[in-house]
Amino acid sequence: SQQAGVFEAELTAAPASTSFVPGLETPILAYNGITPGPVIEVFEGDRVSITFRNRLPDQESTIHWHGLPVPADQDGNPVSPVLPDAEQTYSFEPPKGSAGTYWYHPHPHGKTASQVYRGLAGAFLVKAKDDPIPASYGDTLFVFTDLRLAADGTLPESTMADLMNGRVGDHVLVNGQKNPVLTVAVGEFRRFRLLNATNARFLRLSLAGASLTLIGSDGGLLETPVADADELFLAPAERLEIVARFDKPGTMSLRTLGYDRGWMGPNRPEEAGKDLLTVRVSEDRGPSQPPLPGRLRPIPDLGPPAVTRRFVFTETMSMGAGGMEMGFLINGAAFHMNRVDVVSKAGQVELWEIANQADMDHPFHLHGTQFQIVERESEGKVTKPAFRALKDTVNVRRGETVRILLRQDLPGPRMYHCHILEHEDLGMMGLVNVE
Ligand code: C2O
Ligand code: CU
Ligand code: CU
Repeated sequence: SQQAGVFEAELTAAPASTSFVPGLETPILAYNGITPGPVIEVFEGDRVSITFRNRLPDQESTIHWHGLPVPADQDGNPVSPVLPDAEQTYSFEPPKGSAGTYWYHPHPHGKTASQVYRGLAGAFLVKAKDDPIPASYGDTLFVFTDLRLAADGTLPESTMADLMNGRVGDHVLVNGQKNPVLTVAVGEFRRFRLLNATNARFLRLSLAGASLTLIGSDGGLLETPVADADELFLAPAERLEIVARFDKPGTMSLRTLGYDRGWMGPNRPEEAGKDLLTVRVSEDRGPSQPPLPGRLRPIPDLGPPAVTRRFVFTETMSMGAGGMEMGFLINGAAFHMNRVDVVSKAGQVELWEIANQADMDHPFHLHGTQFQIVERESEGKVTKPAFRALKDTVNVRRGETVRILLRQDLPGPRMYHCHILEHEDLGMMGLVNVE
């Protein structure tokens, strides 16, 4: 229900059943019976109040508002679980300037990966009242999830390889469907939002036949549009906004390209050549549309950092009594609920260095704020981003160090972690307490 400035909704997480393949029932977990969950759409400044009911048998859960600057005790952290049959109302107000593409998903201790791959995730859009992107471009959302089905239609348990690399499904779905069709008019500008809601799949995508302009990332619009993007990259949890224009009538595909994310062990999944979405470009000219503005919004300069912190990501493998034991560590430690790893101050500008000294890529994510990438360093080369953007997730390639600038404005405990959800569950997570 929505009246001026107030948004109220209910999200119930419960077992459900769907059919991905005709004739086969697949038991899943779903918010309000559907996967992905309902798209939540609010305006900047709205008072949002969402009642979460946990109807998962025998499992704690939470709802985490990925990327949104919500108060720490409303953010569905693992330190605030919602027990089976319990409920919690989350309240927050997305501030002015926060318009962007976010998402929501569970974050219970040790169970996030399985709840997400079973179906619990959805998009959360914050809209600006004065959006600089012309309304005639439309606003189309693509939520990517992936799926592995056993022969009987059920979702198989994760294997050792899934825990090690993160679970990568066999089928990539767009808004819950395999290779859906979108129809556009030749020559028209269309606005698309992309959300990688998979547990562990890196999406490197091309859309040959379209001109693509990047206009936004995790935390909303870029400062200026970046034209002629010939490919798109989304690590797990990342988002992009683009404007696409199709110059010729015909049929084209949003297709995956190969990406080497540092796979461990055998059975590396084939990443390249999957058609995720079919676009039919019709002959009829679209309506005439205004051009994209040259500047989208100012992104503030945070100023110099007061402190620098370093986070080193490593993996360890060893033979233990129960077989192979894997460790996914930050600064040598696995996550512990009752341990504060970093104490920080609200309002303080900090430089964080994320050093990936492991053998695979780890997408780094921080709760509670958006950061700016300052530079990336690998093999002695330092690269600065070409444009300013607000991010909450950044892929840190193996051997790479990424430096980010950030400020937390709200006090309380916040998590930072690898967004390969299996790694997060296995301990590649830490807690920063903002005082
Ligand atoms: Cu997408 Cu800790 O979250
Ligand atoms: Cu998050
Ligand atoms: Cu990881």
